[in-house]
This record gives sequence, structure tokens and C-alpha cells, in this order.
Amino acid sequence: MRTVLNVVGARPNFMKIAPIVAELRRRSGRFRQVLVHTGQHYDEAMSESFFTDLGIPRPDVNLEVGSGTHAEQTARTMLAIEPVIAERRPDWVVVVGDVNSTIAATLVATKLHVKVAHVEAGLRSRDRAMPEEINRLATDALADLLLTPSRDADANLVAEGVDPSRIVFVGNVMIDTLLAQRDRAQSSTVARRLGVEGQQYAAMTLHRPSNVDDADTFRRIAGALERIAERVPIVFPVHPRTRARMAEFGITLTDRIVVVEPQGYLDFLKLYSGAKLVLTDSGGLQEETTALGIPCLTLRENTERPITVSEGTNQVVGTDAERIVEAAYGVLDGRTTFAGRIPEYWDGRTASRIVDALER
Ligand code: UD1
Repeated sequence: MRTVLNVVGARPNFMKIAPIVAELRRRSGRFRQVLVHTGQHYDEAMSESFFTDLGIPRPDVNLEVGSGTHAEQTARTMLAIEPVIAERRPDWVVVVGDVNSTIAATLVATKLHVKVAHVEAGLRSRDRAMPEEINRLATDALADLLLTPSRDADANLVAEGVDPSRIVFVGNVMIDTLLAQRDRAQSSTVARRLGVEGQQYAAMTLHRPSNVDDADTFRRIAGALERIAERVPIVFPVHPRTRARMAEFGITLTDRIVVVEPQGYLDFLKLYSGAKLVLTDSGGLQEETTALGIPCLTLRENTERPITVSEGTNQVVGTDAERIVEAAYGVLDGRTTFAGRIPEYWDGRTASRIVDALER
């Protein structure tokens, strides 16, 4: 019997851990599992609702580290998780994604000589101003097993000198969750409640510090949104960081932009799967739209997920207002075409390949 300690902390982690927890449970004759929530995200809408929607069991341990500067959050997670890993001595610590909880758990486990498997290894934006890029580089440098979502990630790791024996291409685990929940999400009433059912609309998320913490950039993006909203209403669930900056900078938006609280997994899936167009700076949404064939405009200068551009429906458009509006009109007018293929191994069976790799 082997013990796996799964670590989650922030919203984008929950849809990645859910299929792994389910797969380990299916192999419960061979695996015992412990779920640790660092508490990086703690609001009902940012955390709890995902556990409910995705049927993730209650965490065995909640470290309740909360918000803070990067150093505070990372250090608090390290302090709190060290005794948990030391006491349970799992065979594997599984970390997902690129958030502060990911690197904190990896650093601690490695120094306790506990093996770490990193799910979503090898992605690189090559933008070191992005905190997640630092987390990716450091996590991949330390983890024993690097489980990659796409072949470009393998190439990045090899180019950095990683021994190929540490790399296993498993595919995109988030797509396991997407495919498992897609039908269920269709019964959500959110589109009706927000008044966009049966209409053409866009869905939007925005929370990267580089976009919302700088007043000029945020105002520029808001200006572009207003112009797009002249053509289609935009549904905009607002992350807590973004809401705080909107208040601070005095940014108000037209009624055609439907500003709502962060949505649960199923409601948001219902919203973006019915959208004509998605605008985002999220990493996960670039992949989810590619998996569903929905046009996505990424409001960043780069992406760590280039396969969504080369094979999927994503366009990296930056934060220049003209460029955003032009790209959005291109999609709305049907002038823009996309490759629109589903990337290799984004097939709903990634968690099974992950657990196979842990068994090996
Ligand atoms: C984190 C991740 C980011 C991910 C995002 C998704 C890092 C470095 N960043 O960024 O990669 O895309 O989560 O949401 O780990 N807050 C609340 N309630 C919560 C959580 C946060 O109000 O439940 C507020 C707090 O004021 C906090 C701020 O949001 O200071 C930012 O939260 P934090 O976890 O530090 O970073 P995110 O921007 O959410």
C-alpha cells in the first residue's frame, strides 16, 4: 500500500486534483491518499463551491494560510505543511499547477526526502515578471517526476537539461474534469439568471496582477471591453483582487457588462461553453476553450500554453485596446478562423496515466 499526499491551495488547483483523487480512490487497494488544502484560497466562491461541484472529499488537513505577500504566503505554507509531511511520510507528494502552494509544498517535501510529482510540468511563458513562472521553474527544478500536459512542455524541460527519465507526457488533467462535468453543467440556470440565455454574448475573466494592479493597463482594457460590449453583452465574474482594484481605481463599466461574483465550476462552464467569444488572462481558460472549440482572446503578451494557439482556438492579443477590439470584432464577424484541433491526450484519461506513472 502506497500513500499519496495531494496538495491544493488555489482555485485553479481544484479541477486538476479532482480526477486524480477519483482515480486513486478507484485503486484504493493499492493507494491510500491524504488531501491537504493549504487555504491559499478560502472564500466559499473561490474554494468550497469547487469541492461541492466536483465531488472532491473534504480535505484531511486545512492549513488555513490565507492571503499575504508572496513571501508570507509561501513561507506560511512551508511552515504549516512541514509537520504534516514529516509525520505522514507519504511515498509521493502530488502538486499541481503553478501557484504559491505548489512551490511551497515542493520545497518542503524535497528537503524531507519525500518524492514529488508535479502535474502540469514544463509550461513556460518565459516571462519572469509573472509569479507563476518563478513557481514553475523552481517546482520543475526540484520535483522527481514531471508530468506534462503537452509535448512542448517536454521540449522545454529537455532544453533546460532535465533528464528525460524524469519526464512523462500524460496530457491535460483539467480536461478530464471538463469532459466529466460538461453534461451536468448544461442544467445550470446561470445564463437565464444573468439574462444572456439564447443570446450572443462574451464571457470574460481578468485577474493577473500585470493587468489589474496597474491603473493604466486596467483602464485601457476596460475601454476595450466597453467597445466590445456595444456589439455583445459581456458576462464578467470578478476575482476578489480585480474587484478591489476596480474600487481603488474608480473603474465603472457599462450595464452591457454583467459584473458578477466569482462563479462555481459548473455555472462558469455553462457560461463559457455558450459564449460566442471568451476574453481572459487565465491559464486554464485558454485550455478549456480550446477543448470545447470556443474562440478565446488572451489579454496577455505571452502564454505558457502555446498549443492552445497552434492547435486550438486561442489568440494572444496583449493589452492594447485597438488590438483587443479588432480581434474581438474579427471573431464576432466570422473573419477569424482557428486550427481548432484537440491536442494529443486531452482526452479525459490523463488522471489514469498520472496514477500509472506513480505506480511505476
Ligand atoms: C492565485 C495564483 C494564480 C491563479 C489565481 C486564480 C499564485 C502566485 N497565484 O492568484 O496563479 O491564477 O490564484 O484565482 O499563487 N482573496 C480573497 N479570497 C480568497 C482568495 C484571495 O479575497 O479566497 C483576495 C485576497 O485579497 C488576496 C488576493 O485575493 O490577497 C489575491 O489572492 P492570492 O491567492 O494571493 O493570489 P491570486 O491573485 O488569487
